[in-house]
Amino acid sequence: PTAATRPRLTLKLCEPRGFCAGVDRAIQIVVLALKKYGAPVYVRHEIVHNRYVVDGLRDMGAVFVKDLDEVPDDGQPVVFSAHGVPKSVPARAEARDMFYLDATCPLVSKVHKQGLRHVKLGRHVLLIGHAGHPEVVGTLGQLPPGTVTLIETEEDVAAFEPADPSALGFITQTTLSVDDTAGVVTALARKFPELHAPASESICYATTNRQDAVKAASEKTDLFIVVGAPNSSNSRRLVEVAKRFGAKDAILVESEHDIPWETVTDGATIALSAGASAPDILVDGIIARARADYEVSLEIVQTAEENELFPVMRAIRDVPLTPA
Ligand code: F3S
Repeated sequence: PTAATRPRLTLKLCEPRGFCAGVDRAIQIVVLALKKYGAPVYVRHEIVHNRYVVDGLRDMGAVFVKDLDEVPDDGQPVVFSAHGVPKSVPARAEARDMFYLDATCPLVSKVHKQGLRHVKLGRHVLLIGHAGHPEVVGTLGQLPPGTVTLIETEEDVAAFEPADPSALGFITQTTLSVDDTAGVVTALARKFPELHAPASESICYATTNRQDAVKAASEKTDLFIVVGAPNSSNSRRLVEVAKRFGAKDAILVESEHDIPWETVTDGATIALSAGASAPDILVDGIIARARADYEVSLEIVQTAEENELFPVMRAIRDVPLTPA
């Protein structure tokens, strides 16, 4: 169709969106390990929650395992995912004399340290987060048994009766909803006025920035599209934020194929963001598809600039990323 006959579409593109520094680093660690040590490189858990990324690394020779028990004693490296691991995992790797590379995001490690600091100061730790998420499993397993309680909701706050209400400290998962977490923290502080906050915010910069951009783009949006995996916590929070801040509808998609294009009619406004583990090539695919079928007017909604970069560990830092 010609420009005159094609339906019009306003497309708001959120900035920042997509890969954060922790995801970027974790992927680089697997790629560099494959270059330096050859295949296979074992990866415990999905390195980041994205099928496109995982499939790409698998094609390069990465072998994904659920548990260290599945890794043979062949001397090849094993990488721990960006979400972090319980202390028992590196301990078991050391007991088996395995060579491991820990791709835990430095901002997740920071939360682990803040939890341990509460414990050292004699406080019981409240971890605000989602049960079963690998980051939560990792953080719970970083703290000594009996020193931490998981809090998911304000109802959990109401039900929690500590032995010593004057010695409590909280930390949170890094990828939570900023607003929901503020609600839980307020409920905690109301019930336990002596509650101690962590030394610095547990929700990471990438989570906060992506949510801010989604908030700014949600109003007067017919359909908010978030690119991300169904098991990606930070991506799912972006969908909730979009709905709460005025988008008529918001959906999580893994690629352009998941979008109900038939509902995107002439004059519609859609907005587009991507979770911290979603590569921009998937966003590009959606923009290309929109441009093929619509007369697109593109608006950038930028709320922050990001230049965080987390370097990889020394063991693989000298490996060139691209062949000479
Ligand atoms: Fe790290 Fe936040 Fe990304 S904790 S892995 S920078 S979403």
